[in-house]
Amino acid sequence: CGIVGYVGSKMATDVIMSGLSKLEYRGYDSAGVAINTGSDLVIRKYAGRLSVLEHELEKEPVEGSLGIGHTRWATHGAPSDVNSHPHSNMDDTIAVVHNGIIENYMQLKDDLIEKGYKFKSDTDTEVLAHLIDLYYEGDLFDAVHKVLGVVRGSYAIGAIAKGEPGKLVAARKDSPLIVGLGEGENFIASDIPALLNYTRDMYLIADGEMVELTKEGVKVYDSAKNLVGKEVMHVEWDVEAASKAGYEHFMLKEIHEQPKGITDTLEKRLDEKGFIKLDDIRLTKEQLEDISKVYVVACGTAYHAGLVGRYAIEKFVKIPVEVEIASEFRYRDPFVDDKTLVIIVSQSGETLDTLAALRHAKKKGARILSITNVVGSSIARESDDVFYTWAGPEIAVASTKAYTTQIVSFYMIALYMALKLGRMDEKEYKRIIEEIKLTSGKVQQIIDQDSKLVEIAKAIMDRQHGFFLGRGLDYNTAMEGSLKMKEVSYIHTEAFAAGELKHGSIALIEEGTPVIGIASQENLFEKIVSNMKEVKARGAFVVAIAQEGNTEVEKVADMVFYIPKVDSLLASILTVVPLQLIAYHVAVLKGCDVDKPRNLAKSVTVE
Ligand code: G6P
Repeated sequence: CGIVGYVGSKMATDVIMSGLSKLEYRGYDSAGVAINTGSDLVIRKYAGRLSVLEHELEKEPVEGSLGIGHTRWATHGAPSDVNSHPHSNMDDTIAVVHNGIIENYMQLKDDLIEKGYKFKSDTDTEVLAHLIDLYYEGDLFDAVHKVLGVVRGSYAIGAIAKGEPGKLVAARKDSPLIVGLGEGENFIASDIPALLNYTRDMYLIADGEMVELTKEGVKVYDSAKNLVGKEVMHVEWDVEAASKAGYEHFMLKEIHEQPKGITDTLEKRLDEKGFIKLDDIRLTKEQLEDISKVYVVACGTAYHAGLVGRYAIEKFVKIPVEVEIASEFRYRDPFVDDKTLVIIVSQSGETLDTLAALRHAKKKGARILSITNVVGSSIARESDDVFYTWAGPEIAVASTKAYTTQIVSFYMIALYMALKLGRMDEKEYKRIIEEIKLTSGKVQQIIDQDSKLVEIAKAIMDRQHGFFLGRGLDYNTAMEGSLKMKEVSYIHTEAFAAGELKHGSIALIEEGTPVIGIASQENLFEKIVSNMKEVKARGAFVVAIAQEGNTEVEKVADMVFYIPKVDSLLASILTVVPLQLIAYHVAVLKGCDVDKPRNLAKSVTVE
């Protein structure tokens, strides 16, 4: 989500709309503003893209030089007008925008309802508006300070009150917040790009700090209300660089966001007892018992995630799964009926082939569950049920964080089904969930060793072609690694089930041909090592990706990258990360257009 706030002499809606428009890379499904007109507090908010709000403001402008605005990227539930920000108290004299999560909002909401407060939305944020109202005695800063004493969770908050037409109050904990400093005007925002049209002088607000802004000045306080002396940061970046949060490319930024994506996708769906809760997905025991077969249908990277999904569902749930490329599925007469569950996977939710396959399956009576990253996308709308990956918007054409979160989603769906159907005992179920939790930190450990991957990239960057080899789950990773390499670095690579290479394609191995072998599967370790020996003997330059401790590979590989120890079952969440980074570095070293590779589009809406 994005936040922008303004106090000064300009028309506040102009500044806020301009700021919010710069946060498009964050994606949004609803937007709103609250403006203090001097005599009133006016709130305008709408589901839909920013242009919906813009159009409404054009039709009926709101005059005023103090205001806050917000764009929301819903993580679950449909975006709607009432759930959009800003939120307000009952008589609309206080308005709040908020990023983050108020963890104890249920309790607080109950207390407030008991005190007579009436709620308009289902959001945790609305609690903040009523709480400020509860504590408000004419000083917004004091009231917000009191509220922060009772809420738990993460937040970046902006608040205004009708009775204080020159004051903006903001606070931060575990969610980004910056202050922009102007001449006779000041700003807040969740992200630097939002303010670069107005100022390059900023304060970075730290956790626990609160800010009081007027047009004349900005005061920053710590949580004990002591004034804090802040250093002004002068931003040199342009808007484009700033939206990459300091990373050179979106692809790199998104690779780095994977630990968070994994945690968000998993942990927000665990209840207090550690069970997966999929309330919004209607898969009762009876409905599950009715399913005799699963089809997974997708394109590109999402298809590769589906291959891992098949493994998880067959292993845990013990029902047959077929995975198929959408453009093939839709032109076949696949055996699909009302006992088939079709899982559609799509980051964007807009890929035309995938959407057409969904409609094809639906016509045949199948039940459709989609895994997508975009709330309200066409695929989400046309599915019976949706499991949203919480990767956050993905901008780079080459998909990275969507893939790892899709895999986590598959594991969760498979675990959920297996437990409901009594095909897995609770102990094993809990153990696997704990293991998945740990993958987030392990992905981070891989990212932290990036310099080793740069060396591998340097060693292979000048080659024209190469191979990725793997067995079992590692074969799927090989396919995704190969796709990443082709997409961004333009090196022609092919992925092989390691045992299959010798049946023909090994003829292509020459002196120095790079072969990346993935060896994360304990039970297949020796087999893949033999396959690496086969290619090594024919001159290949062998790079191995193995689990820590399996040093045996060093005897055959020219270079080795170790991933942290992990249950082989879940290794796919980790093994892809070094391959993403190798592809990325090769592309950068070769000077390729990493985020927008030639001939490709992020979302392909043609057949
Ligand atoms: C395009 C992109 C790929 C992506 C595929 C499926 O071809 O370039 O990176 O994997 O579409 O996209 P989806 O949004 O359906 O996951």
